[in-house]
This record gives sequence, C-alpha cells and structure tokens, in this order.
Amino acid sequence: MIFLNINNLNVSIEGKKILDDFNLTINQGEVHAIMGPNGCGKSTLANVLAGNEDYKINSGKIIFKDEDLLDLNIEERAKTGLFLAFQYPVEIPGVNITPFLQASINSKLKSENKPELDSLSFAKLLRKKAEELGIDSEMLKRSINTGFSGGEKKRYEILQMSVLNPEFTIFDETDSGLDVDALRIVTEGINRFKNNENSFLIITHYQKLLDYIHPDYVHVMRNGKIVKSGDIMLAAEIERSGYKNL
Ligand SMILES: Nc1ncnc2c1ncn2[C@@H]1O[C@H](COP(=O)(O)OP(=O)(O)O)[C@@H](O)[C@H]1O
Ligand SMILES: [Mg+2]
Repeated sequence: MIFLNINNLNVSIEGKKILDDFNLTINQGEVHAIMGPNGCGKSTLANVLAGNEDYKINSGKIIFKDEDLLDLNIEERAKTGLFLAFQYPVEIPGVNITPFLQASINSKLKSENKPELDSLSFAKLLRKKAEELGIDSEMLKRSINTGFSGGEKKRYEILQMSVLNPEFTIFDETDSGLDVDALRIVTEGINRFKNNENSFLIITHYQKLLDYIHPDYVHVMRNGKIVKSGDIMLAAEIERSGYKNL
C-alpha cells in the first residue's frame, strides 16, 4: 500500500505560485519533520493536505492509502484517517467538547462499518484518554477552545488526536509561541500516541521540538519545495547556521 505520496505538486493562491513541484513520501509508522523559513509554503502544504479549498492545485498528485486524496473533500479526508492539528485552533462557542468528539468518532466508526459508541461508553473512553494525558475532567464540559489558554488549546488538540486515533497527523507550527509546559504537553502527547501504525508530519521552526520527538526524517523546505533531507542532525545544523547555506 502507498501510505502517502505527494508527486510533483504545484499549488498557487491568488495567482501566486506557492508549492513548486513538491515531492514527499511518508510510509506508515514514520515521523517526518519539515522545517523552513517563513513564507516558504509549509502551512500551504498542510492546508492542501487537509483539503482547504482556497488553494488552487495546478498539477500533481497526492496519494493517501492508495486513494487519490485530491478527489476527496475535507470530511471524506478525515474519514480516511487524516488529522490536521491547526496552527490557530478555532473557537467553537456553544459546542461542547464531549458531544463534539463523540459525534466525530462515531462518524469515523460508521465510515469503517464499525459499531458506534453510546454516550456512556464514549464518556468512559474520553475520561480514560484525558486521564492519560493529565487533562482535568472539568475541561471536558467546556466549549471547544472558547476561553482556552494556549496550553489548554494544545491539550485539547492532543486529546482530540488521541480520541480520534488518526493514522496520519499533521502538526503545523504547534510550537509557535509555546511555553515550556505546552511544549511538553504536545511532545509527550505525540510520543505516547506514536506507534508502528500511525505517521506524523511535524511542521516546525524549532529544533527544540524535534529533540523531544526524534523524527525519522527531517526535510528543509525553501521556495515551495524540499531542498534537503536528512535526519535529526540536519535540524541541529539549521539551529547552528540557519537556512541560508542550504
Ligand atoms: N490565503 C492567502 N492569501 C494570499 N497569500 C497567501 C495565503 N496563504 C499563504 N499565502 C502566501 O503564500 C506564501 C506561503 O505561505 P505559507 O504556506 O503560510 O508559508 P509558511 O507556513 O512556510 O510560513 C507566503 O508568501 C504567503 O504570503
Ligand atoms: Mg506557516
């Protein structure tokens, strides 16, 4: 099975070319990191994978689990096991965490022809996951992200990931503006969650995050394409000398 293969992807927004013959292959169970200067197209990549329709795909292909991802809308993509942790998590006032996550997981189970969870079994699952992640059960009664601190938003993001159990998670700059506590929540959450079956694409500026997560591959992006790939040593090199020599 082809897990994720992005082939010669060209993307533009408002007539401006952003991704330029972009190529990337991720296998099941792998953790990849993408680093790169501001404006090089990292978030564009995440948004295109997630199915944001503001971006124009000029050419290229994205195969995810043997399916042509570009043929699927946002909802269908989520059902294939794709999860995007947003750079700026949205607030959804009036929508409570518990029923929202229950509806989300049931929609996934249904698409997999598996039995849905009733409220009681779901509440049990949610409490167990929250406990594992050190999340106070009071939080589960609140509206999504409304009035959450930066750290709480991160906790919620990780909780949502752990409940929905996606096979592929994209983190976009989850460390921007993260304090030490929030960084720990995110890295511990990812490390607890990762196994041979799920894969990650971690988009970041900072080596610090990668020190905790130990990605299998580190890629450097510039002007809409990957210009160099390596392992964690590449991240250390960037921390020392920046992007200019790559
Ligand atoms: N919605 C948008 N409208 C216009 N230009 C955009 C939009 N989103 C991104 N861009 C432009 O695309 C380029 C890449 O942006 P982005 O993917 O956010 O880069 P990065 O995440 O690497 O900082 C930038 O020049 C940015 O200004
Ligand atoms: Mg970005």
